[in-house]
Amino acid sequence: MGKFTVLDHPLIQHKLTIIRRKETSSNEFRRIVGEIGGLMTYEITRDLPLKDVEIETPMGKTTQKEIAGKKLTIVPILRAGIGMLNGVLDMIPSAKVGVIGMFRDEETLEPHEYFCKMPNDVAERECLVVDPMLATGGSANMAIAALKKRGVKDIKLAVLVAAPDGVKAIQAEHPDVDIYAAAEDDDLLDNGYIFPGLGDAGDRLFGTK
Ligand code: URA
Repeated sequence: MGKFTVLDHPLIQHKLTIIRRKETSSNEFRRIVGEIGGLMTYEITRDLPLKDVEIETPMGKTTQKEIAGKKLTIVPILRAGIGMLNGVLDMIPSAKVGVIGMFRDEETLEPHEYFCKMPNDVAERECLVVDPMLATGGSANMAIAALKKRGVKDIKLAVLVAAPDGVKAIQAEHPDVDIYAAAEDDDLLDNGYIFPGLGDAGDRLFGTK
């Protein structure tokens, strides 16, 4: 089964509390979602493999380290995943970005894919799927399935807030995928929102309510 890790660094927890507050403006919400995305990336990439590389400093030749292994694709799930994207790219500017569009039927809560544009070499890359809220797990499961259909073998999922049901749903359907969250919340309400959560992440990011 894939690992589920709550990244409880004090800076992440502090920033998450700010965006949970209902009075936090869209402007501040957007900035901090990006910052948390960057801090989470720092933690998620802690175990990236390194290789030796010969370089020359102004003082002479030396052997130093650089990141080895597969290149990364960041996969934000539209639209709220876009909020985390810049923060992740701040940490890994050379990553490519593959976008997948999902919307949730407000009655059935079922996700539907309406857009998918991936780099040509996505199958040879590691993918980090980002979406602020892991509620039922429907959208993330579908996004992960869409990547696997395109040959991707190495997938991680990063969310800000996870509901226990969402974590279970991903672990059941994609046991090879590790999940990272800034927090695991208590509950998934009947209307599909997480409690205490932070409300509708897309609306709060884009000021659309
Ligand atoms: N999507 C959101 O934006 N918020 C939730 O609480 C659940 C799903």
